[in-house]
Amino acid sequence: MGAAASPGAAADGSLKPQRGSPTFERDVRRMFATIADRYETFNHLATLGQDLLWRPWALWELERFARGPVDRCLDVGCGTGELARRLAAAYPRARVVASDFTAAMVRHARRRSGRSVAGCAVADIGRLPFANGTFDVAASAFVARNLADLSAAFRELGRVLRPGGTLLTLEVSEPSSELVRRLFHAHFDHVVPMLGRAFDREGPYTYLPESLRHFPSSQRVLELLEGAGFARCRAVPLSLGVVTVYLAAADAASPPRA
Ligand SMILES: C[S@@+](CC[C@H](N)C(=O)[O-])C[C@H]1O[C@@H](n2cnc3c(N)ncnc32)[C@H](O)[C@@H]1O
Repeated sequence: MGAAASPGAAADGSLKPQRGSPTFERDVRRMFATIADRYETFNHLATLGQDLLWRPWALWELERFARGPVDRCLDVGCGTGELARRLAAAYPRARVVASDFTAAMVRHARRRSGRSVAGCAVADIGRLPFANGTFDVAASAFVARNLADLSAAFRELGRVLRPGGTLLTLEVSEPSSELVRRLFHAHFDHVVPMLGRAFDREGPYTYLPESLRHFPSSQRVLELLEGAGFARCRAVPLSLGVVTVYLAAADAASPPRA
């Protein structure tokens, strides 16, 4: 009989936060703290460099979707701050703030971003330290899959957006074509964990494919956004649907919620 996995770890010893466990969020934070130094390099390798295209592509979709000024932007779950820097480049007059609940990631974001980002904060997406209606855009990339309560996060992002402001969420998704789905899963479920183990034996490489299995369909994400009070909710598949950008407008008809 194999040894029992410790909480937050898979049987092979790799980091694996258990969804539904009371320590899930703490284990997710511990996992990202462990991989923070190697996160960007591994990400580029695991996505075959595609992640370098997805963030600018998502911001191009944002530009087409957003209404009104884009002067104040938030990147939540910023990691090393790549999306925040892209936002600052796309909207040079905007004040961009980056936040993440993993302090090690925030340190990287701060160091890498210099003055291009106005501020970096350690904060949980569920309890953001910003007043109602602070931002014109609240964006996140590859964060949603790691959240214990996606609806609560959407509500909190709606709170910090001005009425009519835009929420952008970029996340890995299930491609709709059977052939693409098979190729994608061969890569994501097998090649990525293998690469990961070669890169770092402790990494979250059994957690990664499982996190997608638990993530709702694009249709369901749109329903959750509507349920959280957003309007004009849209899902735009990128790269044959292996990632999707979700766009939604904080409801201009209702004042920001407390
Ligand atoms: C896969 S990384 C993505 C980082 C970055 N957005 C990017 O595009 O590369 C997920 C990030 O979300 C953060 N995160 C996960 N759950 C969070 C939460 N509840 N509140 C704030 N940040 C969270 C993690 O610490 C991690 O840095």
